[in-house]
Amino acid sequence: MSDRYAVFGHPVGHSLSPRIHSLFARQTGQDLLYDAIDPGADGFVAAARHFLARGGVGFNVTVPFKAAAFDLADSHDELASQAGAVNTVRREPDGTLRGFNTDGIGLVRDITTNLGHRLTGKRLLVIGAGGAAAGIIGPLAAQHPETLFIANRTADKARALADHFQRAGLPQPAAVALDGIDANFDVVINATSAGLSGASLHLDPAILAPGCLAYDLVYSDRPTLFLQWALTAGAAMARDGLGMLVEQAAEAFLIWRGVRPDTGPVIRSLRPP
Ligand code: ATR
Repeated sequence: MSDRYAVFGHPVGHSLSPRIHSLFARQTGQDLLYDAIDPGADGFVAAARHFLARGGVGFNVTVPFKAAAFDLADSHDELASQAGAVNTVRREPDGTLRGFNTDGIGLVRDITTNLGHRLTGKRLLVIGAGGAAAGIIGPLAAQHPETLFIANRTADKARALADHFQRAGLPQPAAVALDGIDANFDVVINATSAGLSGASLHLDPAILAPGCLAYDLVYSDRPTLFLQWALTAGAAMARDGLGMLVEQAAEAFLIWRGVRPDTGPVIRSLRPP
C-alpha cells in the first residue's frame, strides 16, 4: 500500500503541494499518495489525528495551522523551535510526531541556487513580523548578511521578533516601523499578508539598492501588488514564492523519504519559462 501524506490548510483548494509531491514521487520512483485536506477553521488537530489513525505517515501544514502544528508535535528540529512554527510533520517509528520548519531553507535555496543571488554580506530587509516572517529569519541570519532588518506596520512586533532571535543565539536583526526604514537593501522580502487583502504597503522606492531583488513569499501567476510596486520602483528582479514553495516541499520530501528530488524540472513544469 502507498504511504500517505497530506497538506492541511484553510483554505487549501488552491494548493500546488499535491502536484509538487506527486511530481517528486514520480521523479524519484517513490510510492506515495498526497492529498490536500481543509479541516475548517477549528478542525486541524482532530483532522490530523484522524489522518494519522488511518495510516498517514507525515503531513505538511500551511496557513493558518503552523503554530497549532508546533503545539501538536512531540519534538522539534532546531529551525521549527526557532520559528515557533511547523510546516512539516513526520511520524516517527515510536509513533511520536516530529515537527520541522522547511520554509526558510526553501526561501534561501530559491534565492541563492535558483535565482543566483548571494545573501552572504548583503543587506536584507524582511517586511512583516507575523508567522511567515518568523519562519524565514533564522535561515536568512545563518547566511551571514551584512545587515538584516525587520520592518513591520506594528513596530513592537518587529522588535519582539528581533529579540526572540537574539535569545535563540543568532545575531539580533534590526527592528523598525514600516514608515521608518531609512536605509537601502540588496534583497527586500515581503512576508506580510497585506497583498491578500488588496492593501498596498506604501513603501519608499529609496529602500531598493541598485540591483535589488524583490521577493514575495506569496506565489501568484500574476505579479502581486508588492512585485508590481517593486518593478515600478526600480528593482532589478522581482520574484514570487513559487520557487520557495517547491524548495520547501523538496526539503520535506527529503525528511520523509530520505531522497532529495531535483527541483528545477518541477519548477519549470509548474511555470514554463
Ligand atoms: P502570516 O502567518 O501570514 O505571517 P500574520 O501572523 O497574521 O500572518 O502576520 C501578518 C503580517 O502582515 C503582519 O506583519 C502584519 O502587520 P501587523 O503586525 O502590523 O498587523 C502584516 N500586514 C497585514 N496587513 C498589512 C497592511 N495592510 N499593511 C502592512 N502590514 C500588513
